[in-house]
Amino acid sequence: MTGLNLPRVKLCQLPTDLDLASNLSKKLGDVNIYFKRDDNTGLAIGGNKGRKLEFLLADALKKEADVIITTGSIQSNHTRMTCAACRKLGLDVILMLKGKKPAQFQGNLLLEKLMNADMRFFDVSSYNEIGIEADKLMDELRAKGKNPYFIPVGGSIGLGACGYVDCALELFSQADSQNLRIDYIVNAVGSGGTSAGLEVGVRLAKRDAKVVGISVDSEKSVFKQDISRIAQDSISLLGADLEILPDEIIVFDEYIGESGYGKPSRQGVEAIKFTAETEGIILDPVYSGKAMAGLIDLVKKGFFEKGSNIIFIHTGGTPALFDMLVENSD
Ligand SMILES: Cc1ncc(COP(=O)(O)O)c(C=O)c1O
Repeated sequence: MTGLNLPRVKLCQLPTDLDLASNLSKKLGDVNIYFKRDDNTGLAIGGNKGRKLEFLLADALKKEADVIITTGSIQSNHTRMTCAACRKLGLDVILMLKGKKPAQFQGNLLLEKLMNADMRFFDVSSYNEIGIEADKLMDELRAKGKNPYFIPVGGSIGLGACGYVDCALELFSQADSQNLRIDYIVNAVGSGGTSAGLEVGVRLAKRDAKVVGISVDSEKSVFKQDISRIAQDSISLLGADLEILPDEIIVFDEYIGESGYGKPSRQGVEAIKFTAETEGIILDPVYSGKAMAGLIDLVKKGFFEKGSNIIFIHTGGTPALFDMLVENSD
């Protein structure tokens, strides 16, 4: 059991560090930027999904599941981390990956291969189609006497989001011990669970910090609805007396990039280089690089008041760098 009073299984290295990025802050001027290092949560190279999996897999174990099924894109960090968590817990795992099977395995796929994952590729246009296939697979497994447990894309349901409720509480406790007032929390939004959990956590802790999501996929109107819905589900699970309306959610959708989800953007790559050069911190091309591009642009546009303390949740994703960015030597 946890402070949140929900079953939880230990999978991550927590708490993650909260560090002032003094060089980056100086270069941007006017604001103080801190990194919450959720890229270092462990589980086969870290990232934000580990916190969600601590709650989701505790539920699976409680229900005596013996095989976990989940889904994600070809370079999904969620499937890689779910696979690592299942290996740690001794559970079977099947990864239903959305996209064509590539000729070579790089990045997250390579790590999944190293963990000897059961990877199944579905060249379809939506996760609904994979959901139908997952239902069939679950029926087949049940007929063989197995007890499967399905985790939706990104682990972004109320229970998974509780991992980020807990992260917000961890963050405020660290900030309090550093006498730090948090004004903003900035994070990449892919399926909404991270933002939803943070929104709930800020309210449970009764703080004024604003959560600012940077979309890497859908329009902000879609994410405002999704985040509010997931947050309400977490609130019900936690038995809290809160309401989070779509209009209260701040999401920017200007930084998805020219080529859309899963493809590096010019601004994102510049942000990756800038962060690497100033802080020696490595971001990724699909999520954290685009979120940092958003943060930098919003600082330049004066969105954050002078002197604001901004927490950037480094949600990880580093393995995708090795599939997507090729640099020559000069
Ligand atoms: C590295 C990384 N950062 C951010 C996100 C976004 O988190 P969420 O899906 O909870 O919005 C994801 C997953 O989608 C991710 O893998």
